[in-house]
Amino acid sequence: MIRIGRRLPELPPQSERPDWVEADPRFIAEATTRAMAREGGGWCVLDASHRIGEKPRKLRVAGRDLVVFRAKDQVVAAPNACPHMGAELHEGRVEDGRVVCPWHGLALGAEGRGTWQCLKTHDDGVLVWVRAIAGEALTDAPVVSPRPERFVSGVVRMDARCEAEDIVANRLDPWHGTHYHPHSFATLRVTDKDPDRITLRVAYRAIGPLVVEVDCTFHAPTRRSIVMTITGGDGIGSVVETHASPIDDGRCAVVEATIASSDRKGFRFARQVAPLLRPFIERRAARLWVEDVAYAERRYALRTEVRSGALRVVREPARAGAAAAPRR
Ligand code: FES
Ligand SMILES: [Fe+2]
Repeated sequence: MIRIGRRLPELPPQSERPDWVEADPRFIAEATTRAMAREGGGWCVLDASHRIGEKPRKLRVAGRDLVVFRAKDQVVAAPNACPHMGAELHEGRVEDGRVVCPWHGLALGAEGRGTWQCLKTHDDGVLVWVRAIAGEALTDAPVVSPRPERFVSGVVRMDARCEAEDIVANRLDPWHGTHYHPHSFATLRVTDKDPDRITLRVAYRAIGPLVVEVDCTFHAPTRRSIVMTITGGDGIGSVVETHASPIDDGRCAVVEATIASSDRKGFRFARQVAPLLRPFIERRAARLWVEDVAYAERRYALRTEVRSGALRVVREPARAGAAAAPRR
């Protein structure tokens, strides 16, 4: 392992306790509960801004199929069923800022029509958000955490059989990093933690034996987002935002934006070729999320098995025996 990039100050001697002891399930559960208690404002992330264009897309959010497209200077998100006879609007085309129904040509736009009304959307330049979650105190705009001024970015979106809570819990367990993703992380040490913020030093693998060491923090600005911010080493101010967007009961989309910055001279050039860098950023994030989706799905399966009583079978023979015991 060869360290490249800025040197960080030495840390005090490390705890000898193995990661599986440090990864205290009670701490992760408490941090997750506190994150899930935060406001969401009804907002969730749909996808990357650059992937929402004039071609209508169907995206399912919180149990509803939406048609999503870009119309001039705004993103339209509305029910995917045509108010005339129910055709799927994402199969239509956009003309003059309106989606034209593929069955009989009804044109529908941001002004709405009868019960067919658009949802509020927000394009922050990297991600597109929609206000589609019922049962929460609604806000005019989503909580967008501070980002670097100049950056290159990449966004991945993946579906998972779990709930937002499981995605959040995965991000609040940094201790799995070097064990579960050895291809990406060489060393990882949690340097400070409370249920609202976890601080760590991590050496991530750049190429071959070369690693870059940074200090970073994890926190949850809303009940559906976790933000990792680099606070020391190369790329200070860079963030990785992980958003969990409910699709349906027990299904959730992970949308993760890597927003990287640097004060190094070469970064100006990197920004000029940002579209070329994007696939590399996204491939790296996707590799991690294939594994983390499996983690989140496993967590969800265990939670729901316990809830449905499937795990109770282990205890049942003992109870049956007790019931059969002779009365006194
Ligand atoms: S179903 Fe859309 S115009 Fe008829
Ligand atoms: Fe992970």
